[in-house]
Amino acid sequence: MSAFAQRVIAWQRAHGRHDLPWQASRDPYRIWLSEVMLQQTQVATVIPYYQRFLAAFPDVASLAAAPAEQVLALWSGLGYYSRARHLHRAANEVMTRFGGSMPTDPEALASLPGIGRSTAAAIAVFSVGERAAILDGNVKRVFLRHGAIDGDPGSGAVLAQLWALAQARLPASDLPAYTQGLMDLGATVCTRSRPACGRCPLAVDCRALASARPTDWPQPRRRPAAPRRDLPLLLIRRGDAVLLQRRPERGIWGGLWCPPVCDRPPASAAEAIAAAADLLVALGEADAGAACAGGATVRALTVFEHALTHFRLVIAPWQVDLPVASAPAATGAAALIDCRWWPLRDCADAALPVPARRLLAGLAPDASSPGEP
Ligand code: ADE
Repeated sequence: MSAFAQRVIAWQRAHGRHDLPWQASRDPYRIWLSEVMLQQTQVATVIPYYQRFLAAFPDVASLAAAPAEQVLALWSGLGYYSRARHLHRAANEVMTRFGGSMPTDPEALASLPGIGRSTAAAIAVFSVGERAAILDGNVKRVFLRHGAIDGDPGSGAVLAQLWALAQARLPASDLPAYTQGLMDLGATVCTRSRPACGRCPLAVDCRALASARPTDWPQPRRRPAAPRRDLPLLLIRRGDAVLLQRRPERGIWGGLWCPPVCDRPPASAAEAIAAAADLLVALGEADAGAACAGGATVRALTVFEHALTHFRLVIAPWQVDLPVASAPAATGAAALIDCRWWPLRDCADAALPVPARRLLAGLAPDASSPGEP
């Protein structure tokens, strides 16, 4: 076994993490769920979501049978919602293509939605001890620094070099300890800023440390800045209810509930009121539309940014309070444009993106600073 792998395994046994909830199981379903949740999210955030999700869906069959909205609601707050949609679709594929039994070989796993090469390898390693290489963001950093590998880490050439290294370094046995060790080193020692090189088992031959500037790796990626998208939101409130619209399946926050987005950013309070009134009329609530135009109060809340993978959202919320007297009407038109009045107290359990959840929490009657994200 290479000295590299030996050091990682010995370190993992002595100093790595051993009590994470998913480590108590070799059930590939549970491991899959944990790996998908951990794809873009830190361990401490994931743990309560993982436990709630498993309590609702203890096996792949229960996940496959669940309505998409319930899956999204349990994911709400973790972000990167395509992970939840893929997970749900993959559960259905496990039922149809694999007879309801989760595969454990990396190739079959990687054929499922949302499972890339590294995630497939992690599931196979932790469930059956498969000899397969992982390469998530943290592990890339460990390899890039240890070998002082230059170049754009997102480029095909550097990625190919990293995968070759990851494969070549695999030990012949003890794959779970080795794999967990690499993950733990990346997450807790070889951190992006201020790495704890004094505690690192790979420091003895780390080329980045030898250069005395370990944080010079990974080198900056050559990618253009994420483009800006304006998202003017209408928080239309009537008493203790707020109007939400389900986002189209394709695009930002697909399938989640969100305050309606204006076609054009309102330039003034009057324009925000006009946009809200138009929407109410489109919903079939002509009376409410008239009441809105004539008697709503409106205010512009603080504009804030929210980063998504491919966009920098600039969210401009307008709070429009309707006269309470205008009672909500259940109209066919509302269903047609996927709008629904939600009691504010139910919003905590709804499938909402994080910025919408924060805004609505600010609208609750007992919130101390209304509307601030
Ligand atoms: N990140 C990705 N997979 C992980 C795991 N199994 N344990 C800890 N952190 C991780």
